[in-house]
Amino acid sequence: MNIIVAVDKNWGIGKDNRLLVSIPADMKFFRTTTTGKIVVMGRKTLESFPGGQPLKNRTNIVLTRDVNYKVKGAVIVHSVDELMEELKKYDSEDVYVIGGDSVYSALLDHCDTAHVTKIDFAYEADTWFPNLDERKDWSVAGASEEQTYFDLEYQFVQYKRNKE
Ligand SMILES: NC(=O)c1ccc[n+]([C@@H]2O[C@H](COP(=O)([O-])OP(=O)(O)OC[C@H]3O[C@@H](n4cnc5c(N)ncnc54)[C@H](OP(=O)(O)O)[C@@H]3O)[C@@H](O)[C@H]2O)c1
Repeated sequence: MNIIVAVDKNWGIGKDNRLLVSIPADMKFFRTTTTGKIVVMGRKTLESFPGGQPLKNRTNIVLTRDVNYKVKGAVIVHSVDELMEELKKYDSEDVYVIGGDSVYSALLDHCDTAHVTKIDFAYEADTWFPNLDERKDWSVAGASEEQTYFDLEYQFVQYKRNKE
């Protein structure tokens, strides 16, 4: 199972239920990587999308504890256990956890690959992703060249969970 996230210099990922910054090439990377796949998200992340609508051309699975919650075009699950049961239908290589904060935290230990866009700027944030550079169970498996968007530098870095 994969995790995909954009982090700033301090591994910040959001503020006021919004992304810290939107970089077109990163959005494209997200779209290309996840199209045709299964995306797993928290209810708040779903509601942050335009019109609160599921992402097109992907199987959307949404976590909420609200048993009455329904969204057209999304599969709703109410716990990590129920999610894991639902995910048995799919090849785990095709599953991408796309946030937010609480869902990343709940599912990181179930993932073996993390696609991290590292943005070289410190924003004011209120939500963070675990710093994989400080985790002994994760290592960098590959990285793109430095990219720029105006004066912002960023890099696509792939982390893999270390084999035991
Ligand atoms: N930088 C990035 O790549 C990136 C990507 C995505 C999101 N974000 C940012 O992350 C922030 C949102 O994170 P968040 O943690 O507030 O919201 P979230 O994870 O998107 O959604 C939280 C909601 O998901 C449900 N949920 C979470 N864990 C659950 C579990 N174990 N079982 C059942 N339901 C569960 C709950 O819904 P109910 O309240 O309905 O029960 C919870 O309130 C925003 O700032 C957003 O911009 C950043």
